[in-house]
Amino acid sequence: MIVCRTKEEVYALINESTRLKQVLGLVPTMGSLHEGHLSLISEALRHNDIVWVTIFVNPTQFDNKKDLSNYPKNLENDIQLIKKISDNINVFHPSETEIYDGKPFLKKYDFNHLDLELEGKFRADHFNGVATIVSKLFELFKPSNAYFGEKDFQQTQIINRLIDIEKINLNMIICPTIREENGLALSSRNKLLSVKNKDKSSIIYKNLIFLQKSFIKNRNKLNLEKIKSEINFVNDFKIEYLEIVNNKSLQIELKFRENESYRAFICVNVNGVRLIDNILLN
Ligand code: PAF
Repeated sequence: MIVCRTKEEVYALINESTRLKQVLGLVPTMGSLHEGHLSLISEALRHNDIVWVTIFVNPTQFDNKKDLSNYPKNLENDIQLIKKISDNINVFHPSETEIYDGKPFLKKYDFNHLDLELEGKFRADHFNGVATIVSKLFELFKPSNAYFGEKDFQQTQIINRLIDIEKINLNMIICPTIREENGLALSSRNKLLSVKNKDKSSIIYKNLIFLQKSFIKNRNKLNLEKIKSEINFVNDFKIEYLEIVNNKSLQIELKFRENESYRAFICVNVNGVRLIDNILLN
């Protein structure tokens, strides 16, 4: 395993991979790795000759300085975890100046409203920031396959659109959400929760499952307000959104249509820690 800090180092290794006709898989991360990331890496290893994991906490996707500075970082541990999986993995851990060729900047995209729904209503320009960095990584690595988690489903739809806009030639693979035993979706942010609140967070997935069952039973009789108040009733828990939207457009529809798919999205703010999750309903 090689850890690169500069693009020059990456170019040299990628040129060698190209010479060997190796298929390259990319797993972009912001570090503080957990089993969710490791499942993406393992999936990438199954389908590629060489896997690159990028570790970079991207400032342009944070609209809140405190959120950015609180974001958990643990490079040494990340490297140890990756080392345990395989030798066929390289890591790119650039500085801000290195990856942005100077000061970080934000590129604005037309995502056809996808970026303004759900998370977009609460995090200004978040998805432009994600797309800016992901586009840079795609450009640098030119991977055949890139891996992202279903937990950030809205992000995967944004990246799909980015691939269309920039006519990038790659397969995006969406891997299932990995959960704690109590159902809480794994996220680097979970490290910021108290033990008690982590325990109580089981209420999120429990309600998503309940919604899925209720949707299958009778999609016209759902009571989102009841679920919201149940969650808001928990000490330290505050719902930011709970919405059922079209699985493709991510927009709320006045009436559910028979042959369309719908997905429920939730964000709960637990004492300043934003926990997001989603579930396909049909
Ligand atoms: O999902 C993440 O961890 C980040 O948004 C990503 C895709 C690595 C871009 O910074």
